[in-house]
Amino acid sequence: MAKITAAITGVYGWVPETILSNADLEKMVDTTDEWILTRTGIRERRILRGEGKGTSVIGANAVRGLLKKTNTNPDSIELLICATTTPDMQFPATANIICEEVGLKHAWGFDLNAACSGFLYALATAARMIESGAHRRIIVVGADKMSSIIDYTDRTTCVLFGDGGGAVLLEPNTHGLGILDAIMYSDGSGRVHLHQKAGGSAMPASKETVEKRLHYVYQEGQAVYKFAVSRMADVGYEIMTKNGLTPDDIAYLVPHQANKRIIDATRQKMSLPEHKVMINIERYGNTTNGTIPLCLWEWERKLHAGDNLILCAFGGGFTWGAIYMKWSYNS
Ligand code: UT7
Repeated sequence: MAKITAAITGVYGWVPETILSNADLEKMVDTTDEWILTRTGIRERRILRGEGKGTSVIGANAVRGLLKKTNTNPDSIELLICATTTPDMQFPATANIICEEVGLKHAWGFDLNAACSGFLYALATAARMIESGAHRRIIVVGADKMSSIIDYTDRTTCVLFGDGGGAVLLEPNTHGLGILDAIMYSDGSGRVHLHQKAGGSAMPASKETVEKRLHYVYQEGQAVYKFAVSRMADVGYEIMTKNGLTPDDIAYLVPHQANKRIIDATRQKMSLPEHKVMINIERYGNTTNGTIPLCLWEWERKLHAGDNLILCAFGGGFTWGAIYMKWSYNS
């Protein structure tokens, strides 16, 4: 019997309309367009406005678009995994909300939190469920409303993040296409450098936590940068050499978009030319779980069946990893 692999058979991305540009940020905090652009590669990011609108709005829009575009019957979806760091609520899972909003009546679902590596972790998890024969149709969503946990008086973090996300459909493939390898890592000692202090069970919300602004992203930028730049480059190189791939074999590197300089370091370690790297950080900033599906969505038309892609991410936790896949279709 032919080996079953899990292949992406459709992708859709969604970002809110409101744009927050570097010029806008110059009016809010002590920063400049030049600093943001040279240190991060970001020009603008999207912000989800509207009372009561959470990450599920982003996820549901992406899933709706995906179902329509791939002409998929919602009743045929068996599982939806939502990778997010900014769930609508502590519980229930945002996956449950998305399923209900979109009308996935026969799907079970759960959230997965691995910060910026969440989409890769979710993809690796879903792939195993397809390879085992347990499921035939899974949707993996990567979405975040980062603006809900960003302190717009803190210039060191507010320039970095944006809102957005995407969704992919995964189905079995018996022609050797799809996800062929996944390497995932985590190191909880890194949590001191990047986290959200309050709002969880260790420090529930109180008047004091709000007054001390402890519900926002806390990041020691330089420390995170040091780990991100080496770990993401190393795991990209590791999966490439483990699978006997040369730079010529790789069609695209699909990196998490946290900082253009981290992406460049990963590309250099893998000896890839610039045109083989998907980069859209300029327009969306760091959308956490949204970056990789948004890249796949924007580059889909340029991809061909059989193209070798390396997906890489690094994020809070610390978490990091890489996936090697052969793209499965022509658009
Ligand atoms: O996706 C999750 C994982 N996260 C990451 O991968 C992020 C990793 N870290 C980074 O990308 C970078 O460290 C940052 C973009 C966050 C910061 O860049 P940096 O080159 O490491 O800057 P820095 O933190 O060393 O700060 C340099 C200077 C400081 O001023 P002094 O102390 O030299 O006077 C900062 O206060 O830049 C200052 N600064 C700013 N200046 C203008 C920090 N933020 C800003 C700002 N505008 N927005």
